[in-house]
Amino acid sequence: MRTETEHTIFLKDYAPTPYFIDRVEMEVEIAPEKSVIHSLLHVVPREGTEPGTPLVLDGDELLLNSVAIDGAPLGLLAYEATPSSLIIHEPPLRRFVLETTVTIEPEKNTRLMGFYRSNGTWCTQCEPEGFRRITYYLDRPDNLATFNVTMIADKKLAPVLLANGNPVGQGDFEDGKHFAVWEDPHPKPSYLFAMVAGDLGSIHDSFTTSSGKQVALAIYCEHGKEDRCLYAMDALKRSMAWDERRFGLEYDLDVFNIVAVSDFNFGAMENKGLNIFNDRLVFAIPETATDADYDNVERVIAHEYFHNWTGDRVTCRDWFQLCLKEGLTVYRDQEFSSDERSRPVKRIEDVRLLRSAQFVEDAGPLAHPPRPDHYREINNFYTTTVYEKGAEVVRMLATMLGEAGFRKGMDLYFERHDGQAATIEDFIAAFADANQVNLDQFIHWYLQAGTPQVTVSDSYDAASQTYRLTLEQKTDPTPGQPEKQAMLIPVKFGLIGPNGSPMSWSKVSGAEVKGDLIMFDTGKAELTFEGIANRPVPSLFREFSAPIKLTTSLSAEDQLFLARHDSDPFNRWQALQTVATGILLDAVKAGGRLTDEGRVDALATALGETLEGNSGDAAFKALTLAMPTEDNIAQAIGTDVDPQAIHDARSALRKAISNRLHDKLLAVYNALADQGPFSTAQAATQGRSLRNACLTQLVAGGTEGAYSLAEAHYRTATNMTDRMAALAALVHANAPVAQALLGDFRTLYTADPLVLDKWLSLSAQVPDEATLDRVKAILADPSFPRNNPNRLRSLVGSFANANPVQFARPDGSGFRFVTEFVADVDKRNPQVAARVLTAFRIWRNYEPVRRAEAESALKSLAESGSLSRNTADILGRTLA
Ligand code: PHE
Ligand code: ZN
Repeated sequence: MRTETEHTIFLKDYAPTPYFIDRVEMEVEIAPEKSVIHSLLHVVPREGTEPGTPLVLDGDELLLNSVAIDGAPLGLLAYEATPSSLIIHEPPLRRFVLETTVTIEPEKNTRLMGFYRSNGTWCTQCEPEGFRRITYYLDRPDNLATFNVTMIADKKLAPVLLANGNPVGQGDFEDGKHFAVWEDPHPKPSYLFAMVAGDLGSIHDSFTTSSGKQVALAIYCEHGKEDRCLYAMDALKRSMAWDERRFGLEYDLDVFNIVAVSDFNFGAMENKGLNIFNDRLVFAIPETATDADYDNVERVIAHEYFHNWTGDRVTCRDWFQLCLKEGLTVYRDQEFSSDERSRPVKRIEDVRLLRSAQFVEDAGPLAHPPRPDHYREINNFYTTTVYEKGAEVVRMLATMLGEAGFRKGMDLYFERHDGQAATIEDFIAAFADANQVNLDQFIHWYLQAGTPQVTVSDSYDAASQTYRLTLEQKTDPTPGQPEKQAMLIPVKFGLIGPNGSPMSWSKVSGAEVKGDLIMFDTGKAELTFEGIANRPVPSLFREFSAPIKLTTSLSAEDQLFLARHDSDPFNRWQALQTVATGILLDAVKAGGRLTDEGRVDALATALGETLEGNSGDAAFKALTLAMPTEDNIAQAIGTDVDPQAIHDARSALRKAISNRLHDKLLAVYNALADQGPFSTAQAATQGRSLRNACLTQLVAGGTEGAYSLAEAHYRTATNMTDRMAALAALVHANAPVAQALLGDFRTLYTADPLVLDKWLSLSAQVPDEATLDRVKAILADPSFPRNNPNRLRSLVGSFANANPVQFARPDGSGFRFVTEFVADVDKRNPQVAARVLTAFRIWRNYEPVRRAEAESALKSLAESGSLSRNTADILGRTLA
């Protein structure tokens, strides 16, 4: 395998730079084809820097035109410029201004890193290392500087000129050009730099902070799509108010701008005062966005806004600390959504995502701790482990310290580190110090990869009225970490008596128990509860109080008891899932057939009670109807996985449940028919979610009647949520009518790229032999936008990640299609290529035939020629 330079960066090698830059003045002349960047960097030698120490700046694909110090051009021998760096051999040992001029070509930038053009709009993406593609710089997060940016462009091509901070000047030139000046008074690292220039529409609003400051808010987008931004604006204002209420954090500039662009590698970016978004996370109107899309818009708008404090005001010392801002900010956006909507539903959704993405990553070759200690390519560490597991770790802190204790820790963190680049150790220390607790053991959550497995057994002794609960924890080896330390695991729990009510105890020993939390911090703990009058059923890990895999000795009967009586909605949902998983694992063993009708009956009865009962809101009921995914089952099986058997087993269970609950499902479906005009109010979205869950479950029954019901639902839908729900149900059931409706959908929405993504994604998910050829044909179509990350991910990402049977075809053709796609896209956009390739992280878990095919596809990719560092890194680790 030939790769771009092999190099590994280690956390232990972190050292401050000998010089730092505290002020940047840039003049940017934007023009089609070529843009010229003129930079004045105010450089200061750090104390202790020896005379003659060179100043080394990062660069990438820059063409240097001139370089000067304090106005005097440098002689050719005084510096060395390569495409990847600028070295000033002997800079003065005092404050000086380094002046450079470089030329860049945004139109040719298909990597979408640095300064590029999307749909005519010039925009930037600098995290993590994109600023070096704009100008030579100390492109690392521990260099904080204030920025002043003058942008010059043709007024017709780019009437809108935006950068970070506050607008401080603007004007016209005689040649049809104009300029704008932006000053950002808050020192920031270069990854938060942003500029946008283009001909854009916008909506405007304002927010008054709690201390009375007026902030002008704006969202910019393609002309004609302004109405699609109104929901995002509403979400932004709610986010601003929430951060004041919950954390006392106010916004700190005169303006806050958001720009929606259509070519973007990730979801969105928290640039100071100028967030840039993938347009799919801004646009939301009922005709084109589903309720899930609305939730995502709200969540990501909040996430990027919350970064203003957790990320921008306090940033990361180095990229190993990425989860310092990401884990914390995901936790904050989760809390926001929970406060704005249903907390139990949000928790279940988040745990589902954690299990289907993060647990899988953590159990395979790409496993890494939330804070890694080395990397070859930082772009490959924007992972679900850093984000979602990072958030779980923060959540455990909040669980252990309580809301008030957590807030004290946050306050101290800001008091100590505002305006600084901090580390995970700084973060933990703020919580430990603010609450006078020792958190030394807790840091292992940041340092160790792998999902801890907790095994529980219990026994009850009626004579002495004691109940014993034994907990054991173990974390499997992960790459580079053969041995693991015991973690501090907070177990939120309750004991439930025979009549379904909570039980208390007179005394407990064997581990520290604080209220309803067991602090489980050893390999094994044996708890003894005294004064227990009857055999209790334990409810453990309520609210999923720690990101672990739980094995208990509870019978299906006990689980169904929990499903009926647990006061914790998460565990009521979990109990039903656990019973379903047990049935599914047995069915897979039997080659895809259900083996225990009695247990299926019991599960169906419990699901029926939940559906008709009064405990839990409508969206909660909808979640209980969704059986564990094929990926969940594959994960529970672990090795020698046969995706076909899993698919068959799951289909059989869904069909059986559907048949048994048919009348109830139909009754609820019909009762929720009259939805009135579209609204995003909680009651309305929850009603749609339950009604569509019933429909999906009916379709899983596979009857003609259900198919026509779904077709009618599709045809009469007045919003995208209902239309997509019906179409997705038919597609996943591979119903005969699915292809015709996919065709109809395609014609209806040809002009709307974001809706086209839904079509691409569903087309790739059809569980049918013919899907691979259809996907290939769509991709080969000359009109397919081959450089747009959203389109590529919707089609090929969905095929690789959401069609387990067709991706893992036993003849290997699904695997080969994906590796060939990766090799091709890698030449233009390494980040997208590397991300799609991660679908292979489960390859060693397949049964031997598929495993061999996957390995051979991966090996031919390795031999196919020169790969980017991004793709080579993922491939190397996947095969290791
Ligand atoms: N920092 C962004 C976020 O969390 C994600 C991102 C990373 C975007 C890298 C672009 C590039 O919200
Ligand atoms: Zn983030």
